[in-house]
Amino acid sequence: MLTKKNQVLQSFPNGIEKLEIGSGNNPESGYVHLDILPNLPDLDILSDVRKTPIPDNFVRKEVRAVHIMEHFCHPEYSSKSMQKRYGTTVEVVKEVYRILKPGGTFFIVTPDFEKICTSSSLKRVSNYWLQRWAVGGHENEYDVHHWLWTYQDAKRWFKEARFKDCRNCNPTPEILGKPLLNWKAEDVQGNMDWHKIEWYHWLFIRGKK
Ligand SMILES: C[S@@+](CC[C@H](N)C(=O)[O-])C[C@H]1O[C@@H](n2cnc3c(N)ncnc32)[C@H](O)[C@@H]1O
Repeated sequence: MLTKKNQVLQSFPNGIEKLEIGSGNNPESGYVHLDILPNLPDLDILSDVRKTPIPDNFVRKEVRAVHIMEHFCHPEYSSKSMQKRYGTTVEVVKEVYRILKPGGTFFIVTPDFEKICTSSSLKRVSNYWLQRWAVGGHENEYDVHHWLWTYQDAKRWFKEARFKDCRNCNPTPEILGKPLLNWKAEDVQGNMDWHKIEWYHWLFIRGKK
């Protein structure tokens, strides 16, 4: 596990091809994993993602962020003390821009506030899932959602960090055709498609440096 810049340089003398930030208990294979909590499976870099020990332009292909971007504060609406303690969305997007090599991509998956609201008002999703999407798992201080994103937020914050071609690449429409939204929590037990319905409620965004 690494915490210092010189250790990163020693361990990855040719740079990093693909980095996952906030890998938690679900590290994606094929990536170098970074998280703020120690003792996680396959953790390579122990660091706060707001200020990593990774040199500029060090990640060649991709930075992946699945279910972490909602853990940061709003750059204007959150109080200054919250921003200082937990970091802001823009701060993290800018740090990712710094460590990515030109041509590399930043891929995020995060709850889609608009879709969640629509499903909620139509009573298509149970409160069990709405509450988890809204506030996070609450297993520790880093497992709390501080802001839920919209596509407009993503476009604005990626642009502020100078990312180009910010696109919504949610795969659900292609997989499901017409998304089946009469989803109830109990469906998770026997419904092999439940994750696709869950995907429907996420933003999948990719931007290019
Ligand atoms: C909900 S978990 C997601 C884990 C995994 N990516 C997944 O999809 O299941 C969010 C992860 O982000 C990490 N995290 C939260 N704030 C962080 C920060 N400032 N720097 C680095 N990691 C952070 C947490 O420790 C946690 O492991």
